[in-house]
Amino acid sequence: MGCAKTIRRMQDAQVSGKRVLVRVDYNVPMDGVTVKEDARIRASLPTLEFLIERGVKIVLATHLGRPDGIAVPELRLDPIARCLAALVDRPVRKLDECVGDEVVAAVRASNPGDITLLENVRFHREEEENEPRFSDELARLADVYIDDAFGTAHRAHASTVGVAERIPAYAGLLMQREVDTLAKLLHDPARPYVAIVGGKKASDKLGVLRDLVTRVDSILVGGGVAFTFLAALGGEVGDSRVDKDLFEDIRTIAKLAESRGTRILLPVDAVVAPSLAGAADAVVGDAMRIQQGLSGFDIGPKTMAQFANVIADARSIAWAGPMGAFETPAFARGTRGIAEAVARSGAFSVIGGGETGEAIEEMGLADKVSFISTGGGACLAYLRGKTLPALAVLED
Ligand code: 3PG
Repeated sequence: MGCAKTIRRMQDAQVSGKRVLVRVDYNVPMDGVTVKEDARIRASLPTLEFLIERGVKIVLATHLGRPDGIAVPELRLDPIARCLAALVDRPVRKLDECVGDEVVAAVRASNPGDITLLENVRFHREEEENEPRFSDELARLADVYIDDAFGTAHRAHASTVGVAERIPAYAGLLMQREVDTLAKLLHDPARPYVAIVGGKKASDKLGVLRDLVTRVDSILVGGGVAFTFLAALGGEVGDSRVDKDLFEDIRTIAKLAESRGTRILLPVDAVVAPSLAGAADAVVGDAMRIQQGLSGFDIGPKTMAQFANVIADARSIAWAGPMGAFETPAFARGTRGIAEAVARSGAFSVIGGGETGEAIEEMGLADKVSFISTGGGACLAYLRGKTLPALAVLED
């Protein structure tokens, strides 16, 4: 894709004293009305500090959740404004709209270095439709646009693509860091290159697996994805969650892997229990022979040891998706064991955002991996070699 070399960078923009619209990805986990995990907000601070130093009138735009074009009270951004204000140690003015004359006037009236946070852009259905007039409205707010929302770069929306086509547009410091780091894995990974793929839903990861087969040397499959994989290849997985519609595709991926010489490793044992709530009755069993009435919720110790051996030899690692239902301590051992193996390895290791990043942070291993991306879907799309529309629009 070559984005790393060709995107326009904010250090080259004339921003001093101007109004700058910064698209951030503050789509963060919430705990009622407070921010539960602020990693994405913290990741945007270098860009904000750069702009504050240059006397910029900063206008921030983000989405939160999927309100589908309706103003949903729980998805208003006031808690995010409070969290950001504490992090930057200065006031953040939160508006109740994201477009319109009043918003334009409020931004004009702000002082150099002020931060104005617009209301959730997804309260307007025009945002996700990348509707031209809505993009015009966003463009009216600023002289320059900076995209620092790597986590949303796979979405062609008004606030990520439309507005970038209307005013001078540049990549923010976080966006640059993400792309520069991930580009190493995309274009020139040190080998062996090992992908670790987990997570609850097999359907989310199938395309990823298909594309990674042609890019990596080994794929370690865990989490819910693994049980659909095992079932497709003839395993008895009891009551484990399985998506039968994917069986054909999985067999195709397995054949492709064989013809390319890419190893796909599946669990040989699993931690099984009657239900997620029935963790007290959890036992370890053969992953290919799980009895009816039991479901797999984590990889077992033999699998962990096999995966850890492959990880120890890796020189590049990409990991997306936990190995089990790690929120429940009885099913967290697999994810922890793999996290520790990744931390021990001398490999260049990249963790796709979302749950895997959270798990690594919670385990206190964040500084033992090379990079935790702020993107989940965007990170995987990039590593698969897909064009990210919000990046493409920043290319010269
Ligand atoms: C994410 O959390 O992956 C991004 O913020 C994109 O959110 P979306 O999947 O709702 O578009």
